[in-house]
Amino acid sequence: MTSKHIPYSRQTIDDSDIQAVTEVLKSDFLSQGPSIRAFEAALRDYLNVKHAIVCSNGTSALHLSYLASELQSATVFTTPITFAATSNMLHAVGARICFVDVDPLTGIMDTEALKEALGTTSPSSKKAIVPVSLQGIAANLPVIHELAKKYRATVIEDAAHSFGGTYIFGGETYKSASCVHTDLATLSFHPLKTITCGEGGAVITNDDRLAERVRLFLNHGLRSQPDTYVREQKVWGYNDRMSELQAALGLSQLKRIDTFVEKRRAIARYYLEFLSKEPYASHLTCVPYHEGSSYHLFVVHFKDRKKRDFAYRKLKENGVETGVHYLPLYEYQGYRELLGELSLSGADTYARGCLSLPIYPNLSRDAQAYVLDKLAAVCQNL
Ligand SMILES: Cc1ncc(COP(=O)(O)O)c(C=O)c1O
Repeated sequence: MTSKHIPYSRQTIDDSDIQAVTEVLKSDFLSQGPSIRAFEAALRDYLNVKHAIVCSNGTSALHLSYLASELQSATVFTTPITFAATSNMLHAVGARICFVDVDPLTGIMDTEALKEALGTTSPSSKKAIVPVSLQGIAANLPVIHELAKKYRATVIEDAAHSFGGTYIFGGETYKSASCVHTDLATLSFHPLKTITCGEGGAVITNDDRLAERVRLFLNHGLRSQPDTYVREQKVWGYNDRMSELQAALGLSQLKRIDTFVEKRRAIARYYLEFLSKEPYASHLTCVPYHEGSSYHLFVVHFKDRKKRDFAYRKLKENGVETGVHYLPLYEYQGYRELLGELSLSGADTYARGCLSLPIYPNLSRDAQAYVLDKLAAVCQNL
């Protein structure tokens, strides 16, 4: 065992972040004050969108988006290769979850499989699609947008991984979560995401009605009447508010988002330069360098589960923390009870071999070289 420890991800906090939070602590407002408004405005500017509504975490952003979209008893097409929150919140609002298969290399929703699944639905049923921009690579949003128009489905991009990333369509570059091809997008500001608030999230939309509904559900369903203490309760809502401390940290972090993403991309390029050669190449497959990815994760694929698990264990013994993002959600007991036994070939293939290597802005070049060195030793022993 070694005393070395390289996490698979880590937040990047500097003095300007500490100062921003400290200033709020000394101010009049710890909740519902100017930092929330400033952070929401900065998010709107960054994404060039009409509405950014911050909330307590990425899970609440999903929950609020589903509530605002009235997905109770809707059929919702989503992916099993994601963090449980994406579909747990669908269950929470009473939607019918329908898992669609993914690309076995990227883990991103397969739009051919989506098209097939949509084709089996009745035209009158309420429908939604929740693609996940996994690893930092935007899902195929323009194609999903076209399918959604045809089948009258609401589209909600889970952009927890891809904030800061872009995709290209028709020669134009679009930001993930900018809602050009979706109705809503959700962000997470968990410490391991592109930027952090400690915990935090946001709902993004260009739709005024959806934005208003999100704000209602966020704050107990209550709406104030102008110039009086009287409040109306419009819907059964929650308290999913972000605090001023979180917003100040988010606002400070957002100023450095492009630097964070560029540092992640540089690490991905460095890893990929080596991984195409021996001893890695005959044991590992990687997604080719993806210009627009925010590189929330850097995923390599082993040939089978036994080899991946061996690598996970050996790397851990050498102080390198890795992750499996993700096992298919339909393997979890709750989903087995809800949906019965399921197996999708792309998702099963993806999950069998995937392993996320350490990647975060302040991961030093020495640490990157150490990860590659220990991974080389693993490959030589497979
Ligand atoms: C794809 C995805 N969606 C949603 C979430 C939920 O975000 P949070 O942890 O901020 O609630 C996560 C968090 O890891 C995630 O990875």
